[in-house]
Amino acid sequence: MRIIITGGSSGIGRALVELFAARGNGDELLVVGRDRKKLAGIAGEFPGVHTAVADVGAPDAGRQIVRAAVDAMGGVDAVVSNAGGILPGPLSDLSLADFDQVMAINVRATFALAQAAYPWLRESQGSLIAVGSLSGQYPTPSLGAYSVSKAALSMLIQQLAAEWGPDGIRCNLVSPGTTRTPLNANLYDDPAIRKVREGNIPLGRIGKPKDIAEVIYFLLQPEAGFVTGVDLPVDGGARTMMMSLYLRNE
Ligand SMILES: NC(=O)c1ccc[n+]([C@@H]2O[C@H](COP(=O)([O-])OP(=O)(O)OC[C@H]3O[C@@H](n4cnc5c(N)ncnc54)[C@H](OP(=O)(O)O)[C@@H]3O)[C@@H](O)[C@H]2O)c1
Repeated sequence: MRIIITGGSSGIGRALVELFAARGNGDELLVVGRDRKKLAGIAGEFPGVHTAVADVGAPDAGRQIVRAAVDAMGGVDAVVSNAGGILPGPLSDLSLADFDQVMAINVRATFALAQAAYPWLRESQGSLIAVGSLSGQYPTPSLGAYSVSKAALSMLIQQLAAEWGPDGIRCNLVSPGTTRTPLNANLYDDPAIRKVREGNIPLGRIGKPKDIAEVIYFLLQPEAGFVTGVDLPVDGGARTMMMSLYLRNE
């Protein structure tokens, strides 16, 4: 398979790159990020992996990334739109510019990449996976724009699944619960915070990037060939706790 992975230089995306390397099935990857140094690190660590520098929030990034993928790999069989961004803050304080930026990175980027990749995915009968969040289903304190953007991303993927199913293209969303990555590692370095959060997760631990990468990997395989339009939570059961937390008396 020839696969584009945005945000493949860190966290969940990087775990997916590691997984492809470990499985050794001859898959070709193009890893996208903003930081050249991190990408050079990936290229050094995983020989044969292609890299491209792009800010997925830029209007032309989708076309630019697909062009780089076709130049490097001759086509595209799958797109993993994983790069995402958070600008914390309640909606009461959030500027329009910041709102637009979160929407551009978390929603528009996937649309632009999907649209640019469409002719190639149609040719290859390929698949698109975006990385959402539990925050796309539950309002999240201090992450107002992020929650809104991930909810919109969920509908974008369902819409694409409906439109592109007849072309043989599958589109799915994988929605992690809280997962320890460089995005939030400083939070989980605090044992008190970790303990409280782990206590709210039925499986009793914070997610690892590999937990999410394994599910993305599966959805990309032909064995998942009849799965499209899903928003799949990978959260240790955290979402099942919502009513217990709501009804808790202490
Ligand atoms: N960690 C969690 O608890 C959690 C929970 C739910 C959902 N998610 C979602 O999972 C996805 C991956 O997050 P992560 O936790 O793995 O984060 P991470 O470790 O911070 O990695 C983010 C990756 O995305 C790239 N990136 C960020 N903004 C970009 C942009 N504008 N253009 C191009 N590349 C960009 C980064 O590379 P550069 O720095 O080089 O740009 C990096 O490779 C995100 O969509 C996030 O919303 C994470």
